[in-house]
Amino acid sequence: MAILKVCRLGHPVLRRIAEPVPLDTIPTPAFQQFIDDMIETMHEYDGVGLAAPQVHVAQQVAVLEVAKHPRYPEAPAVPLTVLINPRVTILSEDTVDGWEGCLSIPDLRGVVPRYRELRVEALDRHGNPLSFVATDFHARVIQHEYDHLQGKVYMDRMPSLATLTHLLEWQRYWVKHE
Ligand code: NI
Repeated sequence: MAILKVCRLGHPVLRRIAEPVPLDTIPTPAFQQFIDDMIETMHEYDGVGLAAPQVHVAQQVAVLEVAKHPRYPEAPAVPLTVLINPRVTILSEDTVDGWEGCLSIPDLRGVVPRYRELRVEALDRHGNPLSFVATDFHARVIQHEYDHLQGKVYMDRMPSLATLTHLLEWQRYWVKHE
């Protein structure tokens, strides 16, 4: 296992459209190692998701997991999920505003509207088909990671940059303290 280097906004790979993973690649030891490394990297940096372009690989792979997360205390847990070649179908045109950050855009947060409900079809790490419905924060994480595979970052989805906030100021002025 290895912790991979996360590229930051400005690296061209973050703006490329990721290629589908060829099916015969999925069972190879090198690809399985890559999945393990992505998971380890997500955990190391306390992310709730990580897309392959963020670790310099322009392929359609994303990992996500929401444990009870100190940065998202109200978010329901999402089990560790590996998505290969995902497709997303929006199920409800309703959108919800919520704060997002990104490991490739350190120390910033911004409010992003996201669809509330969607269906995800993808392959899991063994190449088996996955199909599930995600709502609310889960759907938000999926849309954020799926955008990375399309060469987009959350700031592209912000209708206004007026909420763009450094993490310290976010904690100071925006987090609801109980
Ligand atoms: Ni991100």
